[in-house]
Amino acid sequence: MSDEEDIDLSAIDEALAGGCGGLFGRDLLRLLDLTPAEFTLVLDTAAAQKAAWAAGKRDQPCTGDTVAVILEKPSLRTRSSFEAGISRLGAHPLVMSDQNSAFSRGESVQDTTLVLERFVDAIVLRTFAQSKIEEVAEWASVPVINALTDEFHPCQGLADALTIREHKGDLAGLKLAYVGDGNNMAHTYLELGALAGMEVRIATPPDFAPLEWVVDDCREAAADTGAAIDVGCDPVAAVDGADVVVTDTWTSMGEEEEHDTRLKAFEGFQVNAALMAHAADDAIFMHCLPAHRGEEVTDEVVDADCSVIYDEAENRLHTQKALLSLVLGAA
Ligand code: CP
Ligand code: NVA
Repeated sequence: MSDEEDIDLSAIDEALAGGCGGLFGRDLLRLLDLTPAEFTLVLDTAAAQKAAWAAGKRDQPCTGDTVAVILEKPSLRTRSSFEAGISRLGAHPLVMSDQNSAFSRGESVQDTTLVLERFVDAIVLRTFAQSKIEEVAEWASVPVINALTDEFHPCQGLADALTIREHKGDLAGLKLAYVGDGNNMAHTYLELGALAGMEVRIATPPDFAPLEWVVDDCREAAADTGAAIDVGCDPVAAVDGADVVVTDTWTSMGEEEEHDTRLKAFEGFQVNAALMAHAADDAIFMHCLPAHRGEEVTDEVVDADCSVIYDEAENRLHTQKALLSLVLGAA
């Protein structure tokens, strides 16, 4: 992108004209909190802001705002992308993690949230149960953004959707295969696909299927977008002809004690060159990271030309910037 004329800022202009597309003041606890149009608006805004930033147009639309980033689990990408993105918006990131997290002293969710919101304009939270972030959102009068729970990782979903769009064009109709654990990322891809009108195929061992209520919600959402949802246990059938092949760790944060039994249970679910050979010739490989090389994916796949893992990581920053500027009313 060489000069300002090349940058499509129309998404941002439209969002401003329409009060940030109705996203001002809103929470994002899971992707299905967004309508398909709102989901597209976040991606369009992210693409426009990304191009503008690359061209040297460095607006700081959230100057004076403060955003709390509370991390009750470890993080590399989420912490650094939120901290950098919030700074780029001109706002102050108030990062609290581990034993210094806002909730680590045992104060009630009510007291913690009602105090915190006196100081900050939005709350970003990584925690365990989805019910906890739902409780925070019930108390908070400022927007609450899910930075990963046991059930969902919507910010990763936004980054991945932008990455797929950059590499494959329109999302509608694309075939996405997820092979591995029916975890927060599997749920997030089901929701992403349902919103975007994609064909999502999930393959997990029988005892590690996605939660039924999430699948039901996605099938209902898919009825409006033309998406197709298939949940099964056959990695080859899932990957057959896929445009996008995705996996995630077999042992999520909080499940470390199950690591050895999980290694056995997931035999046959590794994404390796033999499995990728069933995908479309121009398929891309994705992983939210951290990857456990040699477990859910082999080096030959994660380091192949078709792997877009570092683009995914970078797009965390762009999509979260877009989301924050929309919910803060500053896009
Ligand atoms: N993908 C992701 O959320 O990475 P972190 O756990 O490092 O934040
Ligand atoms: N499923 C993984 C995702 C990490 C970003 C976990 O919850 O640990």
